[in-house]
Amino acid sequence: MKLLIKNGTLVTPQGEIRADLLINDGKIAAIGALSESGCKIIDASGKHVLPGLIDIHVHLREPGYEGKEDIKSGSEAAVKGGVTQVCCMPNTNPVCDNAVVATYIKARAKEVNLCKIHPIGAITKGEQGETLADIGKMKSAGVVALSDDGKSVMNSYIMRLAMEYANSFGLKCLCHCEDANLVDGGVVNEGYNSTLTGLKGSLRAAEDIMISREIALSESLDIPVHICHVSTYSGVEIIRSAKARGVKVTAETCPHYFILTDDVIADYDTFTKVNPPLRERRDVEEIIRGLQDGTLDCIVTDHAPHALKDKQTEYNLAASGISGIETSLALSYTYLVKTGKLTLCGLAEKMCSAPAKILGLEGGELREGAPADIVIADLEKSYTIDGNAFVSKGKNTPFNGYKVNGVVEYTIVDGEIKYCK
Ligand code: DOR
Ligand code: ZN
Ligand code: ZN
Repeated sequence: MKLLIKNGTLVTPQGEIRADLLINDGKIAAIGALSESGCKIIDASGKHVLPGLIDIHVHLREPGYEGKEDIKSGSEAAVKGGVTQVCCMPNTNPVCDNAVVATYIKARAKEVNLCKIHPIGAITKGEQGETLADIGKMKSAGVVALSDDGKSVMNSYIMRLAMEYANSFGLKCLCHCEDANLVDGGVVNEGYNSTLTGLKGSLRAAEDIMISREIALSESLDIPVHICHVSTYSGVEIIRSAKARGVKVTAETCPHYFILTDDVIADYDTFTKVNPPLRERRDVEEIIRGLQDGTLDCIVTDHAPHALKDKQTEYNLAASGISGIETSLALSYTYLVKTGKLTLCGLAEKMCSAPAKILGLEGGELREGAPADIVIADLEKSYTIDGNAFVSKGKNTPFNGYKVNGVVEYTIVDGEIKYCK
């Protein structure tokens, strides 16, 4: 089927251009002033046409934690958020540390048939940090990266082996950076607000030490590494200087780290609990600078849906994580583009082309011949975030009541409309 998107503003690496875009056979067939007969037409006047977002850090929870999310609800949430490709973390039950689970996820994703889903395999068996997972077999089953997300591989020798072994299969390690011993049960950033609330704090150093270790291994071994969800100003500085030396390090951050400070923990709202924790104003400011100067390559959600019962308990016991996949485009547009911190094309790089490049995925740019993974959005339209209106099973957002701009109107995957407002 042919689809013609008329009169939109296309967000391309060359800049924003007013043009039509023709989709044929699942691919972007042409861009320009087009008139075609016999195809479905979408009028995108006043709207923006962007590459589908590529979110390389998502928790879909299936298998095992379907009370929090499953591949179907997570996919529905993704396409509502304008996300056309998702890489899902392996901290499921059982853990995705073998080819069987990876194969299951791919098969289920195909049945659901909404967005493209790429499993990430665990680095170590059961994410226990002791024995390497079945990396070669998982690669054959289609995992696109490795991670023990949720924690760091604490044994540096095991991490060295993991990087070398992963690299021999062309896979990158995506590193959750928190030194578990130093975190020592901390649930918020250690500082003024942890003192104020009496909640146990976790130092920036817990994150920075592990960022430094991963960079040291990457540099010594000359193997690429990717740093997950950077939350500290000092972590940004460590990555910046490593990049200046030519270390093959890439890094991501999330909307909650460039928008929120730990002031929001003051009323003990467990929706603000996340690992690594929300930090302070200077961190937020440096993370934005890191996005601007390329130290931070991409924006991901770390979409971490939880059942309400896992959040409706005291702060220390509550599950960590933020349900973010439905709000990432609007939050990023509102807080980075509308404020003049990034251009819209710059944002598309952070959310589409850079993540594709980091993991070697197809897509992420609007150009002829590319897969027709496309979002049409009304970026000026405003709405108020309401977690209870999420299609994700995870209603856990700290952004309830935030007024944002950016409404996804259509999400198209391989030329098929998978979401329409
Ligand atoms: O807050 C978090 N939640 N951080 C993680 O690293 C894991 C995630 C989860 O799985 O819920
Ligand atoms: Zn993590
Ligand atoms: Zn995560």
